[in-house]
Amino acid sequence: MNETLKTIAERFSCRDFADTPLTDEQIKALSEAALAAPSAVNRQPWHISVISDKTLIEEMDAEALNVLQGEDKARYDRVMAGGGTIFYNAPCMLMVSSDGSKWAQMDCGILCQNVALAAHSLGLGSLICGMARIPLSGPRGDEFKKRMHFPDGYEFGIAVLVGRAKSGKEPHELDRNKLTII
Ligand SMILES: Cc1cc2nc3c(=O)[nH]c(=O)nc-3n(C[C@H](O)[C@H](O)[C@H](O)COP(=O)(O)O)c2cc1C
Repeated sequence: MNETLKTIAERFSCRDFADTPLTDEQIKALSEAALAAPSAVNRQPWHISVISDKTLIEEMDAEALNVLQGEDKARYDRVMAGGGTIFYNAPCMLMVSSDGSKWAQMDCGILCQNVALAAHSLGLGSLICGMARIPLSGPRGDEFKKRMHFPDGYEFGIAVLVGRAKSGKEPHELDRNKLTII
């Protein structure tokens, strides 16, 4: 197996990050992996806010719990049972905002996978995090969007958490029933 295929096969969702901040070199490599993603008609319908400010990440984590507590008690209880965090102590988040155009959701998803694979190739853990939408949907949403420099009219696309994984995980099993080779 070549290095690229090995990276794809070994990547896993990390939910246990060490405090260790990312180096400037790691941030540069991840940012450039994000920007290298393909997009429909090369429209690049995204903006990437790379957040290493732990205070901001923690504030959004706490706000996500506030929002869930008010709006989705069952999910709130699940998050609390899983440690009371949606960001798992990640020292860095790449928040991807989107212009909402036709293929933007798919383009942002591809960008995320570039980041996740780049992170794994650098020996870092990652988690693609749809729940990062939650703190932006509550009363502090506009404040957070401003602090993360969302361009005008852009909305949440997806986020990827990155950091040193405190523990590893087996990659999920391949479900070959999902495959037809003709
Ligand atoms: C679009 C998307 C959103 C996701 N959002 C979350 C999330 O908010 N929280 C979380 O813990 N995992 C999230 N995940 C991770 C998935 O749960 C994970 O990829 C899946 O369980 C397979 O496990 P693996 O990534 O370790 O192979 C998300 C994955 C994708 C692709």
